[in-house]
Amino acid sequence: MTFDLDSVRGRLSGRSIEWHDAIDSTMHRAAELARQGAAGGTIVGAEQQTAGIGRLGRTWLSTAGEGLYVSIVLRLPIVPDQLPVVMLALGLATREAIAGTTGLACDLRWPNDVLVNERKCAGVLAQLDEPASSKTSAVPKQKARSIVAGIGINVLQSTFPAGLDTPATSLAMEGAAATREDLLVALAEAVDSHCGLLAEAGPEPILRAFCAGSSYASGRRVRVSVDGRDIVGVTSGLDASGFLRVREDNGAETTILSGGVRAV
Ligand code: BTN
Repeated sequence: MTFDLDSVRGRLSGRSIEWHDAIDSTMHRAAELARQGAAGGTIVGAEQQTAGIGRLGRTWLSTAGEGLYVSIVLRLPIVPDQLPVVMLALGLATREAIAGTTGLACDLRWPNDVLVNERKCAGVLAQLDEPASSKTSAVPKQKARSIVAGIGINVLQSTFPAGLDTPATSLAMEGAAATREDLLVALAEAVDSHCGLLAEAGPEPILRAFCAGSSYASGRRVRVSVDGRDIVGVTSGLDASGFLRVREDNGAETTILSGGVRAV
């Protein structure tokens, strides 16, 4: 079904929204707009992405008309080191938008997976935009120019290819009837409120909310693959930067900066 952009524009008034029938990735276009000075909250969406970007160099399957594929320009007065917490805030916002629109309660798997019944229904990305001139610029390092948030929600798919890295599901496959328009309005508002909270109050409330809303944050036995090495242990919360702590079976506590977390 054709995306009703006019209805979304009416409900998110004052916000710039660019919509594409097909694009390589909304991340590239949003970064370009951000470099040209686009306001915080600017949205780039697409019916279809031909080279959707996932985390860790993966691709994001972006079949036409079946998912919500959007990037949002964020202008936040945070230091670049807080990017991991931005990603957690985006996961919380996505979960809230799905719950508010469909009633589905999603789990969060550090750092960026939104799950229903252990299957991934949405994923988020946060990319810091560093203009080429930043090394010589007099703009203070602590004021990030912009962050591009990328959010993909599987909405209407009825099937996924075999052999995906993470088993996937869609809201429709979970029995939830949601429109992409309602999801986008709820998502834009939830991103505003979670990122606003981060900007005003710092990382703590986001870290607390993530720990409360994620069955993976502590007490969960997981395998994490980090640079080709598998770490197996039990999760023991997040550190102040939003990184996951895992207590390995030999008692060592490892901080996971990046990697794919799987329940075992
Ligand atoms: C992940 O879970 O690996 C992150 C997936 C993020 C996908 C979204 S879809 C909209 C935006 N454009 C992209 O190319 N990627 C993000």
